Amino acid sequence: MADSNPNSTEPAAVRTLLVFAHPALERGRVNPLMCEAVADLPNLTVHDLYEAYPDFTIDVPAEHRLMLAHDLIVLQFPIYWFAMPSLLKEWLDLSWSRGFAFGQGARLKGRTLMCAVSTGANRDAYENGVYRFPLADFLAPVKQTAEYCGLNWVEPFVLHGAQALELEGMEKGMARYRSRLQKVAAAVQPVARRRPADAI
Ligand SMILES: Cc1cc2nc3c(=O)[nH]c(=O)nc-3n(C[C@H](O)[C@H](O)[C@H](O)COP(=O)(O)O)c2cc1C
Repeated sequence: MADSNPNSTEPAAVRTLLVFAHPALERGRVNPLMCEAVADLPNLTVHDLYEAYPDFTIDVPAEHRLMLAHDLIVLQFPIYWFAMPSLLKEWLDLSWSRGFAFGQGARLKGRTLMCAVSTGANRDAYENGVYRFPLADFLAPVKQTAEYCGLNWVEPFVLHGAQALELEGMEKGMARYRSRLQKVAAAVQPVARRRPADAI
């Protein structure tokens, strides 16, 4: 699946895996629209963790196969308590394992990781000291994890003030997300196709 015709002169298509985590999607307003805004982008797979693993039992080999088949991994989630939702952390803890994400034989190197997050608070709260730290500081563990495992980190996409967004702000936010993802994907080097060992 990851490798098509090795003799082709066509540029390799960049494959994007959108790993989505929202613990209370039935009450979610912004994240469902974010998923919708990008779902039809070419070669993009949406993987809803809370739908796939309602009991938190992660199928690690399946997650490895999914990651290996993609070049760009996007973690999309609402910020909960200045962090990622717990199932996404569980997914990281279990599937980014030794011998796969790090250590001898690590296989994620050269891929790209981007976070796409929504916050309840507006930009000011993060940038003017209300929450003491900028949002980038709360995402620093993800950045460090990506870089430790040899992935390229790109600046997160952030939709601030999600709960208060009116229709116009919402539409602009969705257009901004779609265009950001297109730009990031266009800049990514497709590694999934270049490594026969990654074929699944
Ligand atoms: C339990 C909980 C914790 C939250 N913690 C934060 C937080 O630390 N910082 C913040 O800016 N917003 C926080 N929020 C607000 C959410 O980030 C916001 O509601 C969400 O991004 C909106 O997306 P949605 O409409 O898809 O749910 C929290 C919301 C909940 C329910």
